[in-house]
Amino acid sequence: MRSKIASDRVSRNPNESTDNSVLIVGGYGQVGQVITRGLSKSLPIELIVAGRSLRRATNFSNQFDRNVVPVRLDLDNLSNVDELLKNVQLVIMCTDQTNLDLVARCMNLGIHYVDITASIGFIRTVEALNADARRSGAVAVLSVGLSPGLTNLLAKRCKSRVPDLKFVDIFLVLGLGDVHGDSAIDWMLENLNSRYSVMEKGKPKSVGSFLEYKKTTFPGENKEQRAYRFNFSDQHVVARTLQVSSVSTWLSFTSPVAGWFIYLLRKTGVSRLFDWPLIRQLSLKALKALRFGSRRFSVKAEAGVDRKKGCEFECSVSGSGEARVTGLIAVKVAEQLLSSSLPPGVFHIEELFDLNQFVDELEEYQIRETTVLKQRSV
Ligand SMILES: NC(=O)c1ccc[n+]([C@@H]2O[C@H](COP(=O)([O-])OP(=O)(O)OC[C@H]3O[C@@H](n4cnc5c(N)ncnc54)[C@H](OP(=O)(O)O)[C@@H]3O)[C@@H](O)[C@H]2O)c1
Repeated sequence: MRSKIASDRVSRNPNESTDNSVLIVGGYGQVGQVITRGLSKSLPIELIVAGRSLRRATNFSNQFDRNVVPVRLDLDNLSNVDELLKNVQLVIMCTDQTNLDLVARCMNLGIHYVDITASIGFIRTVEALNADARRSGAVAVLSVGLSPGLTNLLAKRCKSRVPDLKFVDIFLVLGLGDVHGDSAIDWMLENLNSRYSVMEKGKPKSVGSFLEYKKTTFPGENKEQRAYRFNFSDQHVVARTLQVSSVSTWLSFTSPVAGWFIYLLRKTGVSRLFDWPLIRQLSLKALKALRFGSRRFSVKAEAGVDRKKGCEFECSVSGSGEARVTGLIAVKVAEQLLSSSLPPGVFHIEELFDLNQFVDELEEYQIRETTVLKQRSV
């Protein structure tokens, strides 16, 4: 495998530098493809597309007339990784992982790192590498994508508009007609039965995915719809980075009956079946095959000072294609990492960027802001 990697890394274009490569793990997945395509247009350096299937990586990289190098890499067996990392300047992670090994190596070797995961458990383990990153000069940007990602930036926008902000509710509606990758669907199924803590009035409150709902009106809709608690990492992260005492994230689907059905499965305990690997595997296949309805997504943050008095400011982004918008945000972050001097350390997107820095990437999407005018009692 090592010789395969070495021989593959001969640049096909003499104008492209192979001294500094970008390694995109999962670069031929749904989100990874958007990232690889985006960076192939903007960065004149070698891109390495990695995953467990050399065949899929090769088929994908053959679509480019520039230097995109396919590599086999299994995050659960990192035997070939040291040679692979030799000239790598940035690693972009487009799948969930449990093994911290690759990130730890990057933080020790001064290799920049971008991750799109929504798994708060893994995010916390990466945060603990902050001192290593600062020592080596590496910059890691976490919470990159839609949720987490744009949702963190929307919460930051709320904070800038409501200075004495006390609560933020983050809403996400996903299209069941959208193309979601295996990793993304598996992550959702894995988190369906999760219990976790959210911050409510500055104190941790134990909650469960799909055990509670909140109603909201999504952009472009004229009636309220239920959105259900879900364990996205953004709610945990912004409570700390933006110092907000109450934050929760709520998930819905463009077909409300789907959310209601999952709520029912969860309330009756039938959803426990998804914890069985075989049932989860079959459900994943069924969900991939049963695509129907809209490809649209929306993310929205509602914020205010007192929940009883309601929302004072809300902002949202909507459009089509969850994987596409996730990839576009990651491309912008990667470009910034390689072109500007960001401070070393482990950060979340909202600690380094503002929503308005992504306006060009979001030109095909709708961005809305509404200030709810209220008379405050003195
Ligand atoms: N932040 C956000 O808003 C956001 C939005 C969408 C998705 N996501 C997250 O992004 C991730 C990717 O989603 P996706 O829809 O692109 O999924 P996907 O199409 O399944 O892509 C995952 C990629 O990772 C590779 N991969 C999986 N396990 C691997 C391993 N052990 N070692 C090396 N490569 C591995 C896969 O290839 P092989 O299977 O061939 O190895 C594939 O190329 C998911 O974790 C999802 O939760 C985040």
